[in-house]
Amino acid sequence: MTSSSNPIGLFDSGLGGISIWQAIHAMLPRESTLYLADSKHAPYGEKTKSEIISLAEKNTEYLLAKNCKLIIVACNTATTQAISHLRNTYSVPFIGIEPAIKPAALNTKTKKVGVLATKGTLASSLFHSTTNLHAAGVEIFEREGTGLVERVESGEVEGPDMEAHLKELVQSMVDQGIDQLVLGCTHYPFLIPCLERILPKTVHIVDCSPAVARQTAAILLQNGLENTSDNQPQHQFYTNGDIDLLAKFLPHRRPNFDLAYLDF
Ligand code: DGL
Repeated sequence: MTSSSNPIGLFDSGLGGISIWQAIHAMLPRESTLYLADSKHAPYGEKTKSEIISLAEKNTEYLLAKNCKLIIVACNTATTQAISHLRNTYSVPFIGIEPAIKPAALNTKTKKVGVLATKGTLASSLFHSTTNLHAAGVEIFEREGTGLVERVESGEVEGPDMEAHLKELVQSMVDQGIDQLVLGCTHYPFLIPCLERILPKTVHIVDCSPAVARQTAAILLQNGLENTSDNQPQHQFYTNGDIDLLAKFLPHRRPNFDLAYLDF
């Protein structure tokens, strides 16, 4: 039986989904959470659909064994490749992450939107159907964020090398006249300070994490799953990668945060 004080589960192919966790924690401070960082299998974006589905199943089953009441697939690649399968297989509510094409298409003045995402996300049918549905009359410029997940996973989010790499990736979209840059991978919000330095002021960076937190709040309410107990929320973070690196992505952690290495 699901209790409303059970944690919200999140998983990603590593540390990127912590950008989503931050938005969830800010909007829903009474909720406990359990975050799985599958760094050992990153990047998911280079894997086949069936490999991504089996990793997503493994992560989901772990979170369900820990009684998570709702699961956030804090990874665009896993969402685009595996969320229908997860929804058809397990009865817990799932929240997925997709590149925020809709708000970008609504807000663009130049009618040109850039999307930086992984190979797996850009190749997915979900990405293409969302784009067709929400971006009529808008030109979409796609660019694969080659190497970015690996760099963030190694702790590199700043520096001249990263700036040069990002410039190389976004420059052609900027030259085409985009005024919105959609971050289609949850690892990329950690690169926002660096991106802000290299992008012209006319380009707005679109990060979907606040929208994901709003959607999570709505689904909890709809399902009667909001935590109403007065117990202090607990936040557990498990990684099958480098625990010191995980700690660096959580600089403001408190005593109710528990970080551990887990071989999964
Ligand atoms: N954070 C994942 C995403 O949002 C990274 C994907 C990957 O591991 O390639 O897509």
